[in-house]
Amino acid sequence: MKGTFPINKFKDIDTPFYYYNTDLLRDTLNVIRKESGKYNNFCIHYAIKANANTKLLSIIRENDFGVDCVSGWEIETAMKVGFSANKIVFAGVGKTDKEINFALDHDIFCFNVESVPELEVINQLAARKSKIARVAFRINPDVGAHTHANITTGLAENKFGISMQDMNKVIDLSLEMNNIKFVGLHFHIGSQIMDMGDFIALCNRINELQERLYARHIIVEHINVGGGLGIDYMHPNRCPIPDFTEYFATYHKHLKLRPQQTLHFELGRSVVGQCGSLISRVIYVKQGTNKQFAIVDAGMTDLIRPALYQAYHKIENISSDEPAETYDVVGPICESSDVFGKAIDLNRTHRGDFIAIRSAGAYGEIMASQYNCRPLPQSYTSDELR
Ligand code: LLP
Repeated sequence: MKGTFPINKFKDIDTPFYYYNTDLLRDTLNVIRKESGKYNNFCIHYAIKANANTKLLSIIRENDFGVDCVSGWEIETAMKVGFSANKIVFAGVGKTDKEINFALDHDIFCFNVESVPELEVINQLAARKSKIARVAFRINPDVGAHTHANITTGLAENKFGISMQDMNKVIDLSLEMNNIKFVGLHFHIGSQIMDMGDFIALCNRINELQERLYARHIIVEHINVGGGLGIDYMHPNRCPIPDFTEYFATYHKHLKLRPQQTLHFELGRSVVGQCGSLISRVIYVKQGTNKQFAIVDAGMTDLIRPALYQAYHKIENISSDEPAETYDVVGPICESSDVFGKAIDLNRTHRGDFIAIRSAGAYGEIMASQYNCRPLPQSYTSDELR
């Protein structure tokens, strides 16, 4: 089954562009609100790194979520569309003084701190402003996630977080700092995780760490488990909304929260991934030696995931109903990795047909580049093209 697209409206638009189904986005957000709302201490942050398109942000903002940011510019973008600073969490291994100062000036909710040198700098900069910075320590739980090696983050070998062995030392250090308030623990084990067992492993690890802290009479106010819930790239039509019921129930069942503790989530891909498609036109159909190529006008500059992670995205010819043939779908960029899919079955394809690359709402537009002096892709929403 193909997705449904307003092809008549597409005819007047220059390709490539991102098309966002904002009805699906709203439905997804409603499900997140409903399912997380079953538990009164769950708090949702949108991981803005997945997609910072302001058309989507203004819809997401209506849900009263917080935001997970990894740069000062993300904080600025979030605030510009009206997210409140007091719900912003700020992660990242390399926060600069300028970014920290910016976050302090706006009294963000919490810094997710990833090292001792960073903690010391935040303390100094907060002291200069006579402020108290709220911090959570990002602990590297050494839990592997069954996902692509480039997007697993919770292993000891990764650059992220503070090791479990160093946790107590860092907490002690922070308790002696005048301009730091230690409020929580933060975790994130990776992205595009489909196996709930990985989240259960994280819960078990957090339970152990909480026991260790409890033995020292420490109960943190906030536990943040990051993001990571995957989407079904193979079946964007059959599974347009991830299983948030199971996701939140898994945390509710396996994580032992102490009374008064709040559980924070940082969801990116699962919020916006399925609502976006990259729309391109076929420039040429070219016969190769043993194959045929559909050369489209979108490239790895518009969507880098296939080239960077060998990621699968479902590709559809949304103009043709003719019998399927097999194509390598490639872009115009001067790189042999500029390939969206090899040996893809598409309805027989002609110059000018529209090709939709599905499930491209997360880490698509936001990772676009201008290599080959190409312009950044435009975007349109279903609200705009009705
Ligand atoms: N929290 C932290 C600390 C993160 O590092 C990330 C993603 C998230 C939350 C959101 O994770 P999500 O819910 O989206 O899985 N560019 C890659 C994905 C990189 C993910 C980076 N961190 C891709 O295209 O697959």
